[in-house]
Amino acid sequence: MIGIGSDHGGFELKSEIIKHLEERGLEYKDYGCYENKSCDYPEFGKKVANAVVSGECEKGILICGTGIGISITANKIKGIRAALCTDCFMAEATRLHNDANVLCFGGRVVGPGLAIKIVDTFLDTPFSNEERHIRRISQIEED
Ligand code: RB5
Repeated sequence: MIGIGSDHGGFELKSEIIKHLEERGLEYKDYGCYENKSCDYPEFGKKVANAVVSGECEKGILICGTGIGISITANKIKGIRAALCTDCFMAEATRLHNDANVLCFGGRVVGPGLAIKIVDTFLDTPFSNEERHIRRISQIEED
């Protein structure tokens, strides 16, 4: 299950990504927002991040205008590794190296064609499982 959420700044791109997830036959849950009306990105960032941490969703996709506010929000939740990606190299590297569990976009930054390629790269790239990356990820969680 993929959890997806956005504010108004990411609403249109969220609809495009949902269409693509449906075309791929992937299960998803849309945590809102549900209309293109001004709203606050932390609400949706927290909802999707909590769904990933609880195990309800395996991965999350979050979109606001820049992708910045919603990624900052998600990364405050322990266990979330949210990556703001603007190209496929970043999406591949963050799966291989960071085992990122949430992909973030700026709906006012990337177009739908590129965003869909980034989504596919993110979803289809496994974590490398290399010792140095496992070590670094566990250091993120240390107090
Ligand atoms: C909303 O206008 C905008 O501030 C928000 O979508 C996001 O870009 C914040 O980081």
